[in-house]
Amino acid sequence: MPTVDCVALPEHLSDGQLVGKIAVVIDILRATTTIVEILTHGASCVVPVASVDGARIIAQDRPDALLCGERSGTPPEGFHCGNSPLEYTLETVADKACVISTTNGTRALHMCDRAHRVLIGSITNTPSLCAVLADDGRDVVLVCSGTDGKVSLEDCIGAGLIVDQLGYSATDNAALMMHAARGAIERFGGVRYAIESSFHAKCLIEMGFGDDVAFASQLDTRSMVPEFDPAIGEIHPV
Ligand code: MLT
Repeated sequence: MPTVDCVALPEHLSDGQLVGKIAVVIDILRATTTIVEILTHGASCVVPVASVDGARIIAQDRPDALLCGERSGTPPEGFHCGNSPLEYTLETVADKACVISTTNGTRALHMCDRAHRVLIGSITNTPSLCAVLADDGRDVVLVCSGTDGKVSLEDCIGAGLIVDQLGYSATDNAALMMHAARGAIERFGGVRYAIESSFHAKCLIEMGFGDDVAFASQLDTRSMVPEFDPAIGEIHPV
C-alpha cells in the first residue's frame, strides 16, 4: 500500500522528500480553492507566480491574460482579479490564461517542483483528488501552505480529510492531521464551523470575505483536479 506523508509548512520539506512522489499543495483559504474554481470555469491555464512583480512581468508577455491574486487579502495595484474563489465565473475566465500570485499558496507550489507530480488540493475537490491519487498509486506528500510561515488550522483540516479519505498507510505527521481534522470537525460540529474557527478564516470574515470561507469549506462540490507542471510553469486539469 502506498504511503501518505504530510508537512504543516512547505519549509518543513526535507531534501529529497518529494523525489518520485506526488505532492499535493493545499491552501484552503484561499489559493488552491480558487485555482480549482478558475479551471472549473474554463480558463485555458493558470500560471502561478511567487512574487507580485514576477506576475506583472509574465503578464506583459501574455497581453490577453488576467492578472490575479492578493497581498494582505486584496488585489495588488493593477491586478484584474483578487483571490476570491467566487470571482471566477465563466464570464470572467473562460478561455483566458490567469497569471496568479498569492502570499503563500503560489509560493508553496513552486517549493514542490522536485516532486514527480504536483497536484492541487482543496476541500471542494477532495474525493476527485483522492481518485486521481489512487489511480496513480505513488506515495503522496501533502504540503500545507500555511500563513506567513505559521501553521494554518484550515490547511491541516484539508490535509486530514485527504488522509482519511485516501486510506493509505499514514506517517505520524499524516495521522496527526487526520486526528486533528476529525477532532476539530467533531468539536465545532461540522467542517465549515471547524474551518471558521481558524485564525485566517476569522481575518477573512472580518475583511468581508465570509462567503469565501463558507464556499471553501464545502466537501465534494468540484470534480476538477488541477496539476502544476513546473517545467512549463502552468497549471492544467489532470
Ligand atoms: C495565500 O496564498 O496566502 C492565501 O490564499 C491568502 C488569501 O486568503 O487570499
